[in-house]
Amino acid sequence: MRADVTTDPTRDGTPVPLLQVDDLAIEFATPDGVVRAVDGLSYSVSAGRTLAIVGESGSGKSVSSLAVMGLLQQPPARIVRGSIRFGGTELLSLGQKAHRAVCGENIAMVFQDALAALNPVHTVGWQLTEALRARHGMSRRDATARAVELLDLVKVPNAKQRVKEYPHQFSGGMRQRVMIAMALSMDPEVLIADEPTTALDVTVQAQIMRLLSEIQAERQMGLILITHDMGVVANVADDVTVMYAGRAVEQASVFDIYAAPAHPYTRALLGSIPRLDQKGGGLAVIPGRPPDPTQVPAGCAFHPRCAFAEDVCRADPPPPTVSLPFDRTSACHFAEEVMNHDEH
Ligand SMILES: Nc1ncnc2c1ncn2[C@@H]1O[C@H](COP(=O)(O)OP(=O)(O)OP(=O)(O)O)[C@@H](O)[C@H]1O
Ligand code: SF4
Ligand SMILES: [Mg+2]
Repeated sequence: MRADVTTDPTRDGTPVPLLQVDDLAIEFATPDGVVRAVDGLSYSVSAGRTLAIVGESGSGKSVSSLAVMGLLQQPPARIVRGSIRFGGTELLSLGQKAHRAVCGENIAMVFQDALAALNPVHTVGWQLTEALRARHGMSRRDATARAVELLDLVKVPNAKQRVKEYPHQFSGGMRQRVMIAMALSMDPEVLIADEPTTALDVTVQAQIMRLLSEIQAERQMGLILITHDMGVVANVADDVTVMYAGRAVEQASVFDIYAAPAHPYTRALLGSIPRLDQKGGGLAVIPGRPPDPTQVPAGCAFHPRCAFAEDVCRADPPPPTVSLPFDRTSACHFAEEVMNHDEH
């Protein structure tokens, strides 16, 4: 099912977001209580743009992406509220099967545990074209030719030979390229890449990121890149969503985020000297730990770790979005002060 993706004539041909998530909330019922894994998340991505989603472990990055793909297991998960629209289609009002069908044609995901996702008993070529053969009834010969094209696209050398090989014959980096090729096989409008390089060494990580970035630009896809690496964010993102304890605490262009972070958590993630040319940096280590998801602190969830916290932060949750200049938002009582805070 190919959803209708258009430009909005009322806005001078400005592309409408391909994918738009609004006020998404997802809970898990666990023996220790309810986990609000995602709580009021909104974001959008348009053709040709890269949105980076960053945040520490457990902040809701993967769960929200699985919800977009219609792949959340319900139960134990429950989508409590919100909207996920692709083109003109509200995916959450479709049944899960139809939701997945829209994603199958339009939105693809490279999973966090990509290396485990390949099937050891089938050749790489077979796996690359499984979806194409199932959906489009492709002949074996056409499917093999397409598999070779896909491996070429992700720059796997000697593709003609390698389509006949099995995953264990590929290195980690080459297997990750196969996973990206698989995600691209249906020619998606939006690609979600969930930590696509964490298991790889630094040089291979850089090569894979360059490849993803090139393919994204060439195809004008919307790319959602989930990453812990602020160096990657600086190099490839247009927009950034910073997540903490299930919420988007700051959303801005990559330039604004680095120039003047407007949330203390973003500030802490970037370390004390935010630099747009930072290379290969992970998230800075922030004292304290993310909250136990069944016992999120009252008031602002970040207050026990926040250098800017005042009494009001312990008593009242901040507004979910404080609007700031340049179309950016921060969920902080002191968003403007933090943004204008100069440490030097
Ligand atoms: N099946 C589940 N049952 C209960 N809680 C879950 C389940 N899956 C995820 N969660 C909880 O949802 C929250 C968000 O998890 P998620 O996997 O989205 O984190 P993440 O931001 O992707 O972290 P990471 O960087 O480690 O991948 C976490 O608190 C996690 O414990
Ligand atoms: S609301 Fe208060 S505790 Fe929360 S991030 Fe802002 S200053 Fe820190
Ligand atoms: Mg994750």
